[in-house]
Amino acid sequence: MAIPVYRDRGYRSAARAFFGDPLSFVIRRQEELGDFFRVRIPFRRLYISTDPAFFEEILVQRQRQCRKSPAYHQMRIALGNGLLTSEGDFWLRQRRLMQPAFHRTALEKLYAVMREETALWLDDLEDRVRRDPVVDLSREMTRLASGIALKTLFSSSPRRDDSEVAAEILRTQAYVLWRLERPWLTPFFPLLANNRVFRRDIRRFDDMVYGLIRDRRADGAQRQDLLDLLIHARDADTGAAMTDRQIRDEVITLYVAGHETSANALAFACHLLMQHPEWADRLAGEAEQGYSGSTPDDQALGRLDLVRQVTEETLRLYPPAHIIGREVAEPFDWKGDRLAKGSILLMSIYGLHRNPALWEDPHVFRPERFAAEHAAVRSKFAWLPFGAGPRLCIGARFAMLEIPLVLSALFRRFRLLPLEGTVMQPAGLLTLKPLPAVEARLEVR
Ligand code: HEM
Repeated sequence: MAIPVYRDRGYRSAARAFFGDPLSFVIRRQEELGDFFRVRIPFRRLYISTDPAFFEEILVQRQRQCRKSPAYHQMRIALGNGLLTSEGDFWLRQRRLMQPAFHRTALEKLYAVMREETALWLDDLEDRVRRDPVVDLSREMTRLASGIALKTLFSSSPRRDDSEVAAEILRTQAYVLWRLERPWLTPFFPLLANNRVFRRDIRRFDDMVYGLIRDRRADGAQRQDLLDLLIHARDADTGAAMTDRQIRDEVITLYVAGHETSANALAFACHLLMQHPEWADRLAGEAEQGYSGSTPDDQALGRLDLVRQVTEETLRLYPPAHIIGREVAEPFDWKGDRLAKGSILLMSIYGLHRNPALWEDPHVFRPERFAAEHAAVRSKFAWLPFGAGPRLCIGARFAMLEIPLVLSALFRRFRLLPLEGTVMQPAGLLTLKPLPAVEARLEVR
């Protein structure tokens, strides 16, 4: 059977329909065309899938025949050649180098730091709530997740205004997308005004990151964190150290990938829990019974089943990395069609997680889907917020400690009440974020 094709009025309008609102686009096309279809766009063959078998085929079985898609090439203008954007042997070497920092025993130490940061943040938040109960939770989550990333990965405290950093990340993402939508303008990118803003944002990031590296080299202390790992790594063959530029690329990748996604997931979870106050109360009850003090230790966290379910359901409905893209490097067949070299394969995690063949009432918040007894009946590739295969998110376990920790502690301390008249729309930029920001009125429980 031929693969269904989405044709709009022309190549350009098909591309515009997709880029304009990738989330609704995927859900609508999935209903009309099924879980694998082609979109007619200029210059390239573009396929979109929400089929778990395709995710497995591309991310696991055929990962050597595919490379990362043009979106990641565009991201390189900001992230450089770090773990998310690099390829081949170089990527493998860097991944092996950094993996130990995310092993179970290392994570135990990191978890202690996450707890400290969360407890400090909660006390500070409580002070502020007593003066003004209306809180911008998107901003709070960015501030907290940014602080946790800097402290755990680089033993550093935030030294910049977090809302400024968040605005720079948002602008940079929008700029990367803007370039991606206009390949025909490539030769002119450096000449256009938005490039100046982009370069200024990157310079500020670089100043922050090179500052971290410089301080560490100057104080000479061994802290056994990721920054130490990167600074002291030596090439097995040549004995060469990593250049500052390469360290910068890895640091910026880990910092951005390591806090922006978690912050968005936390903001979405707050939004969902305000709409489902019975679940908010259940989380508070679980926390009360599960541990004393303001945050759970790692043993207690492991026993908090409800907050794990809420976290997993939030990542299902609003997966912060909503699309994974690959480009075919060596052609192969899929369902009787030849996927030619250069074809773009977009795997929509958002669509996968709302595929009605896999999930009953896919758009409904129902955390109990993730109760242990339902896990066995689900395909291993039906829930992939962290991707799959060798390029699986290196921070998946980190995030699955951080998000439940923050949610449990937050809902134990506060009751969150929605403000009237705001409607949240998830926006599918490079990552998925709630727009407008999630705001709430907080009451100390
Ligand atoms: C809810 C939180 C998170 C989500 C949803 C998420 C999602 C993902 C996904 C889907 C990928 C795979 C991309 C691909 O295959 O093209 C990925 C890769 C990656 N993530 Fe995460 N991530 C999260 C948190 C984190 C954290 C906390 C860190 C670091 C501390 C991190 C660092 C990375 C890095 C470095 C990669 C590239 C890995 C490689 O290719 O070797 N992420 N993430």
